[in-house]
Amino acid sequence: MLLVLLALGVQAAGQPGRAAIASAHPAATVAGQETLARGGNAFDAAVAIAAALAVVEPYGSGLGGGGFFLLREAGERPTYRFLDARERAPLAAHPDLYRRDGEVQPALSLNGALAAAIPGLPAALVELAQRFGRLPLRDSLAPAIRLARDGVAIDRVYRERAGWRLAALRDDPESARIFLDEGEIPEELSLLRQPELARTLEHLARDGHDGFYAGDTAARLLSGVRAAGGIWSQRDLDDYRVVERQPLRVTLADERELISAPPPSAGGLALGQSLLLLQRLPWRQADAAQRSHFVVEALRRAYRDRGLLGDPDFVANPTAQLLAPAHLARLAASIDAERATPSSSLPPAGDWHEGDHTTHFTVLDAAGNAVAATLSINLPFGAAFTVPGTGVLLNDEMDDFAADVQGANAYGLAGSQANAIAAGKRPLSSMSPTFLESPHAFASFGTPGGSRIPSMVLLAILEYLDGQPIARWPAVPRYHHQFRPDVIEHEPGAFAPQQLAALAARGHRLKAVGRQYGNQQVLLWDKRDKRVEAASDPRGIGTAVTFP
Ligand code: DON
Repeated sequence: MLLVLLALGVQAAGQPGRAAIASAHPAATVAGQETLARGGNAFDAAVAIAAALAVVEPYGSGLGGGGFFLLREAGERPTYRFLDARERAPLAAHPDLYRRDGEVQPALSLNGALAAAIPGLPAALVELAQRFGRLPLRDSLAPAIRLARDGVAIDRVYRERAGWRLAALRDDPESARIFLDEGEIPEELSLLRQPELARTLEHLARDGHDGFYAGDTAARLLSGVRAAGGIWSQRDLDDYRVVERQPLRVTLADERELISAPPPSAGGLALGQSLLLLQRLPWRQADAAQRSHFVVEALRRAYRDRGLLGDPDFVANPTAQLLAPAHLARLAASIDAERATPSSSLPPAGDWHEGDHTTHFTVLDAAGNAVAATLSINLPFGAAFTVPGTGVLLNDEMDDFAADVQGANAYGLAGSQANAIAAGKRPLSSMSPTFLESPHAFASFGTPGGSRIPSMVLLAILEYLDGQPIARWPAVPRYHHQFRPDVIEHEPGAFAPQQLAALAARGHRLKAVGRQYGNQQVLLWDKRDKRVEAASDPRGIGTAVTFP
């Protein structure tokens, strides 16, 4: 008896005993909760939440898109895994895909069927359920199927995003039919019904991977895409696989470890480099202006090195060099505490000797399994092209490639050879689902926001390291620097007037973004006092719950 109690005691100490979910939409949080209540684990809940988000936030993610899932499998020593469900360029893609008469045409990689890469989310849902879940896929997909069939109320976020993409949505009859009301933005609280999407989800529930990548759905996808000028083939769909990769792991001070997205995301490396750089700088003791100066200088250097990165199946990413103490020491030494370093004065990346729309959710179950997932179709409403008869709105993730190696993409991110378009390649991403774990605590971070994702996650992590309450992590006002353009972008309220003056006096150029951005979802399991907390970004309409 004593032995049994001891065993239970030991097991309980390694488990949170409570579950938590934070997601960008209330209906998705409820879908996750329902799935856990049915006996599912965090991975089943992740399937339910991701599928629900695909339905209720058609502007953010979907079966026509992809994403990254960071997993924590509970155990005496947790196992971390990274599922790369990023879209792949079709096999007929090539570096000049978007050039016409020698000039890259940005609209071609942003709108319409040619902008779409091969989706990864359907494959990820199947893989998560089959390899890691406890429930049949059908059960985890049930809430999403219901939401698609019965409809969901249009909210203010939907209306704003549809407004941004109104022209492109109007250009595609199928998207206009489903997502607009007689060519206009639907009224708040009117119902968005997606019966075709419900059927596509049912095929997935019934036939698994083949329910999307083969058979009737695949036939519709191919004929719809090709009729609209796209270049997909059945081989593209046959070849698509989720790739399991080693998460990026960086040991930090105080027995903490960063566990985050490896390439084809640039996000984990940007976070790892920034945090290691900040550890070499007195940011904690600094006043607000000095602290943001250090953060910006760290980000400037980390984003510069982004130019070296690409799909690991195609390029050799210098991950170890970028995190090497010697490289970081050189970078840290180049930071002037008093002056901004002009980006143009930094040596090019790799010179070793020179010395809103996307979504995110996180879930933790009572046993300590956890998922952080960032899912995307790139711009709001993706390519604004819906494949007739499927309800599947396609991504425009091809724009995350360098369509022009000398140019920049929709996020102003500089092009690079490592991220040039190639057949079957995955475009470089900024998505950064991230855990921070120590013997005392486990915390999960992530947000949408294109190139600003790593800086947003960094700012949330700094609030955590600074001992701030969890509600503050996603709420903290944001600022951003991405090396080029050489400017600090900032949200309303990010800097007090004297801070703005202090940053300008150090030589920084500042640019007010004029609106809030991002939608961060976080959770914390404090192992010492067995506290579980979650928080959803106050900028969005998402919800966070802990239970029982
Ligand atoms: O993978 C990426 O980096 C982008 N496609 C993410 C897009 C995004 O976050 C848009 N959100 N506001």
